[in-house]
Amino acid sequence: MTRDEVRRYLEFYQDLGVKTVFRREAVSAPPVAAETPAVTVAPAPVVPALEPAHDNLLKILEDIGDCKRCRLHEGRNKLVFGVGNENAKLVFVGEGPGADEDAQGIPFVGRAGQLLTQMIEGTARKEGIPLTRADVYICNVVKCRPPENRTPQPDEMEICGQFLYRQLLAIRPKAICALGSTAAKAVLGTKEGVTRLRGKWQQWRDIPVMVTYHPSYLLRPYNQNAKKEAWEDLKKVLHYVYD
Ligand code: URA
Repeated sequence: MTRDEVRRYLEFYQDLGVKTVFRREAVSAPPVAAETPAVTVAPAPVVPALEPAHDNLLKILEDIGDCKRCRLHEGRNKLVFGVGNENAKLVFVGEGPGADEDAQGIPFVGRAGQLLTQMIEGTARKEGIPLTRADVYICNVVKCRPPENRTPQPDEMEICGQFLYRQLLAIRPKAICALGSTAAKAVLGTKEGVTRLRGKWQQWRDIPVMVTYHPSYLLRPYNQNAKKEAWEDLKKVLHYVYD
């Protein structure tokens, strides 16, 4: 990388609110920190890149601020950051807010959200695991509602995805459950569809990831077979995390 490329790279992440970046390992790159004062390059071997030090959800929320980094802010009523337990052992990642979420500023509160809550609490109850929705953490890949609930575009996912990664790193759950293909793509960086990924453990950094169907998909009457599979996936996740 040239010095200019490094500077642009750092400025991009600075723009996203990242104040400290780490080198993956000692490298012979030029010392760029002096030219980008708000971004400190810490020579920390074996620390994964781009993790702000001592990050937490409040800091991430402050860094997002009144975000206008992508076009999705234009139609937003409320930014939907995430909800639940900051120390959750399990994080659910959806795609992006719908109309109800946009109105309330809380993820998964509409029809799909009610199904997700039922899935979490119903499966837990059946399996003898004392767990409510409030015990887990729920968030989305993009924090603003895409117009007409369209799928988030790659640049929107790239920009907002950095905040998702920071949320996941701050919480450090025992497992992540990616709901649907957008979440799977954002977390795993894969183009593989849910049908192929689901049911088997995947991995993001050192955290096991289970991909399963998005609750909206399960609400469609012709997808009832997938419901059974989603319940199986969730059972696997809950036992892994809470046994
Ligand atoms: N669908 C999502 O992916 N996220 C929500 O918050 C609601 C519906």
